[in-house]
Amino acid sequence: MNASRSDPRLNRAKNLLFIHGYPLDRSMWELQLLSLPSEIQAVAVNLSGFGENALKPSEAGRGGSGKCSMESYADRCIQFLDQQDMFDPVVICGLSMGGYVAFEIWNRHPNRVKAMILCDTRAAADTSEGKALRKSIADRVLQEGTEAVVKPMIEKLLGKESRLNNQMLVQKLTEMMHRVTPATIHRDQIAMMGRADFTLRLPEIKVPCLLVVGEEDAISTPVEMQGMADVIPNARLTIIPRAAHLPPMENPIAFNAEIEKFLATIA
Ligand code: MLT
Repeated sequence: MNASRSDPRLNRAKNLLFIHGYPLDRSMWELQLLSLPSEIQAVAVNLSGFGENALKPSEAGRGGSGKCSMESYADRCIQFLDQQDMFDPVVICGLSMGGYVAFEIWNRHPNRVKAMILCDTRAAADTSEGKALRKSIADRVLQEGTEAVVKPMIEKLLGKESRLNNQMLVQKLTEMMHRVTPATIHRDQIAMMGRADFTLRLPEIKVPCLLVVGEEDAISTPVEMQGMADVIPNARLTIIPRAAHLPPMENPIAFNAEIEKFLATIA
């Protein structure tokens, strides 16, 4: 992480940026950062409002926490890479909202993208029903607090086996979400509502892509992600067993094996 550009280790390194989903933070990638082979130089960003970048109580007024967008998150990721001295193209690995940000990085900063790992995400924008649902969540969280989203989110993020047999994971996610302020959740729902639709642009993505999805994912389903893999020229989909929307946390062994296999194919 502290290696400089001239460090010869970087010539071998497959630089990788992890981008977390909503409403999580970079600690969701702990089991990847700890286990990937040392020749892969991997870093994980906290988008603003999450993890160490969580708002201070004085900033987290009920009226919202300023504007953000998938575009501003993409620019922030590039700034983060610059701060790590990672100026060469990297592999961008984003999960769900992190995938929306990955599309914007490809769109706005194509020369920084070597390959993409798109996990449990979608290229399509929200439907009008999806937007209405986001608006109601955004309003509700300002009235009721972060608690209002925690339980429903756990139900959606985790597969049956994780919910029943992995109480440590349930606990970790619960704590992670409780660190996010209502203002940040409100702001992110509004930002995701306004995100661009990349469906028609998928054939333009020429970098190698690995698409990953949990077999039980009901948010971005294996069928929907297969449809994306079919139209991205250099892409394949892998389905992770015993996982829903969070394969890196629910089945890290299978997830890590898949990304290592993919990284080995990148020059
Ligand atoms: C996520 O996991 O980042 C969210 O499910 C994204 C979304 O709400 O579209």
